[in-house]
Amino acid sequence: MTAMTQDQLKQAVAREAIKYVVDGQIVGVGTGSTANFFIDELAKIKHRIKGAVASSEATAARLRAHDIEVYDLNQVATMPVYVDGADEITAQGAMIKGGGAALTREKIVASVAEKFICIADGSKLVKVLGKFPLPIEVIPMAQAVVARKLIKFGGEPRLRFKDGIPLITDNGNVIIDLVDLKITDPVELERQINQITGVVTVGLFAQQGANVCLLGTPDGVKTLT
Ligand code: 5RP
Repeated sequence: MTAMTQDQLKQAVAREAIKYVVDGQIVGVGTGSTANFFIDELAKIKHRIKGAVASSEATAARLRAHDIEVYDLNQVATMPVYVDGADEITAQGAMIKGGGAALTREKIVASVAEKFICIADGSKLVKVLGKFPLPIEVIPMAQAVVARKLIKFGGEPRLRFKDGIPLITDNGNVIIDLVDLKITDPVELERQINQITGVVTVGLFAQQGANVCLLGTPDGVKTLT
């Protein structure tokens, strides 16, 4: 038997996540390659759901391409589940997110959901967060001052570029990636970075982490709760 590819692992967890979708309700949908597999699975059962709230313009476009109704979050008071990937996750459900630059909308949509279902291939499970650069969405005029203040946390702040120019998020902001961290207390680091004036969102999801993590492994999908 040949080993499963990373995409096959992502597809397996996306399929498993469908079991958490509640009939007749709105689903919160994340951003990234794993979330894209989930959207494609969701399309197969779209007649069972009311619609979805998207965490990025890219996700909204993919949902609409499948004829899944996309709701504005302002129209939605609560939803049973938010399903999204992660760049790193601990067994306790703390995550680094924002590799796809959608961290702010992801955190907002997740905050409205009763449960965060994280879907990830096994390579994302770590003991200590921080090998993956920690994304921080920042108001553009505050980029330099925020970068100076981030240095005290020990990592190296790097402005994220795309196609040779600073990447601009769906919200019109920039991303600073904090490289080379060992995050031993993610809840406290999330709190401290959030307090820096000019920071919109830090891509640490620890105060409100994942309630369930569906992890794709060669032995099948493992459920961490
Ligand atoms: C986007 C995210 C993604 O969930 C994260 O980057 C994981 O992406 P992928 O599923 O492509 O590995 O936080 O902002």
